[in-house]
Amino acid sequence: MKTLKEYFKREFLRYIAVVSLLVTVDIAQVYLPQFTRFAIDSISKRNINGLIKYAIYIVIFSIGIVVLRFLYQSLLRAAVLRFDYELKNRIFESFVFFKRKTLEKFEIGDLMSRVTNDTQAVRMFLIMGFLAIIDIFVLGLTTFVFMVKMNLKLTLAVSVPLLFLFPLALNFGTKIHKLYRRINMLFADMSVRVRELVQGIRVIKAFVKERYFTQLFRGVNEEYLKENLKLVKLDGFFDPIVNFLINLANFVLIFYGGLLYIKGVVGMGSIAAFFQYIETLTWPMMAVGFSIALYQRATASLSRIEEIISIPKETQGIVLDTVDRIEVKNLRFSYDGNIDILKGINLTINKGDVIGLTGNPGSGKTTLINLLLKIIDAPKGSVFFDSNDINDIAFESIKNLFAFVPQEGFLFSDTILNNIKVGNPNATREEVEYVAKVACVYDDIMSFKDKFETVVGEQGITLSGGERQRIAIARALLARRPFLVLDDALASVDFKTESCIIKSLEEHFLKSGLTVIMISERLSSLSIANKIYVLVDGTIIEEGTFNDLVAKEGYFYHLYRKQLLEENL
Ligand SMILES: Nc1ncnc2c1ncn2[C@@H]1O[C@H](COP(=O)(O)OP(=O)(O)O)[C@@H](O)[C@H]1O
Ligand SMILES: [Mg+2]
Repeated sequence: MKTLKEYFKREFLRYIAVVSLLVTVDIAQVYLPQFTRFAIDSISKRNINGLIKYAIYIVIFSIGIVVLRFLYQSLLRAAVLRFDYELKNRIFESFVFFKRKTLEKFEIGDLMSRVTNDTQAVRMFLIMGFLAIIDIFVLGLTTFVFMVKMNLKLTLAVSVPLLFLFPLALNFGTKIHKLYRRINMLFADMSVRVRELVQGIRVIKAFVKERYFTQLFRGVNEEYLKENLKLVKLDGFFDPIVNFLINLANFVLIFYGGLLYIKGVVGMGSIAAFFQYIETLTWPMMAVGFSIALYQRATASLSRIEEIISIPKETQGIVLDTVDRIEVKNLRFSYDGNIDILKGINLTINKGDVIGLTGNPGSGKTTLINLLLKIIDAPKGSVFFDSNDINDIAFESIKNLFAFVPQEGFLFSDTILNNIKVGNPNATREEVEYVAKVACVYDDIMSFKDKFETVVGEQGITLSGGERQRIAIARALLARRPFLVLDDALASVDFKTESCIIKSLEEHFLKSGLTVIMISERLSSLSIANKIYVLVDGTIIEEGTFNDLVAKEGYFYHLYRKQLLEENL
């Protein structure tokens, strides 16, 4: 509710204006039937001057009401739409600044519905609900007062059927919103299915899952139809029942009002005015129910929105431009607080080092890198950049220090040129070609029909895993960050290409003074490292230069011999 309070505080003057206009309109609205009454009474008395006078009043008031309505509606809607716009931006901004762990906790559909459904609920309440509440108090009460002033007993009698409008509207309002919410969710589900189909079409075809997928979609679509039919039924009931209650009130008016007229207690004009008042009163009676339903929904939605907004952003911390030394001291890490994935790691990376990291699959190499990149939080006192604990350093700084190539080599559906330029949008064509050559992917690119303009991904050609990895390496080189991390980035590249890359990377590293962390399960590619760590099941069991480790005849040596044999087979 804090968000709402801030909003009302900021828009206080505007709301004063809206309320004043609204009250004026409502009062004018209540006066109108009185003019009808006097006009009709003038007709009964054959008083032409009176008739003309009240007819003119009716015209002036009607026009005035239209103008004022337009004014307060635009004032209110503009303010609420702006608030809605800000709210959506704030929600999305929270998503963007979530830590990865936090973002992964939510489902896409849930996040989507907070941006769309929940902001809509708040918007509806701030417009419809607000107008309804004012109408209840001003229109409802004044109408009632005017009716009572004409005749108390008749007022009470016609009010009885109208009273049922309140529970009817409350029930309808609550049910229809639940249905809408469910229908929106199902709609989102269907979109997800279609997207899955497009993204996974090859897997679906390969595993002959067409029928299964059709069935899945049919299931969601069936639910969608069912809920929509419920909506039609609910909607179809509401209007006739409202009309029935109004007719009932009119019947009471004619019958009981007629008796009172015959007795000479009320005039014909009053009865005509009562007809209009019944119509006027219908809305405030329903509005009580609607605004309660809108309020309940809006507060629920607002707390879902505030839950997102209040998640603390990535903390701002120490800003580092350069780092001379990264130190990992006795680092223990566990995902679940139970099993240690890293069991006391010690290592040092000095500026200009080319560090090799190898080990069995699942030994924790990627985990260690994610800790160094602050993608996951390291325990305090275990990772230091110069003398700063990584927990005290701004995420932004870490991001600017590292260029990172993950194993999957993710590419966007765009041209190869643009994919490489993600690393540095301002790079020149020469720079792009240079890094493509260093990553040994230049010749491959030039062999495509559209060369660097070749579109990859969904709309274009499908690249091999090795080509994707090399483009990802080129992108990382282009970024010119002081640290380069290659996480098994050559795993899908064949032996021949690999030795080409290793050679040109070595040259590039020497020339550029990059600090490199190179993870590889293929040991030959670590020959350019000046220090290698061997990680087995979360523990560093060997470390040293390539030659040291070979000479040692331990784990590294035996694995290397095995790989050489396989390579020569
Ligand atoms: N996000 C995660 N949540 C829980 N366990 C994980 C997560 N990521 C990796 N692990 C586990 O941590 C261990 C080390 O994984 P990883 O660091 O990816 O190893 P490597 O990169 O050396 O193959 C594995 O047992 C893996 O199942
Ligand atoms: Mg890994």
